[in-house]
Amino acid sequence: MTCGLAPYMKNVREFCYGLGVAENRFFMEWFSTEPERVEDKSHLTMILLTAMENNHIPVMAACWTGVCGSCKTRIIRGKYTTSSTMTLTANEIANGYVLACSCQLRGDVVLE
Ligand code: FES
Repeated sequence: MTCGLAPYMKNVREFCYGLGVAENRFFMEWFSTEPERVEDKSHLTMILLTAMENNHIPVMAACWTGVCGSCKTRIIRGKYTTSSTMTLTANEIANGYVLACSCQLRGDVVLE
């Protein structure tokens, strides 16, 4: 079970699903007056940080929530979305840098 801000819970959910936690075993507690719509496509996505670790690509990660910036990684090619760019500059984002813990892969990507 997780609770907190929606982006945080989304990251925790995707992390847990990436680890193989079954959907019926994961619960979220919302702190909002209006429920946020969350697409239930997480089983189709992979978090870049999880993919890197699964493929033994060296990466540092401290917070897993898009806050510390330690997992900054550059994607040269591929489709992805991000849920946090908190520690990145506009120039870094324009040049393909992402926070691997907050990057949802939408297909194969090529890293620098
Ligand atoms: S591990 Fe902290 S921002 Fe990704």
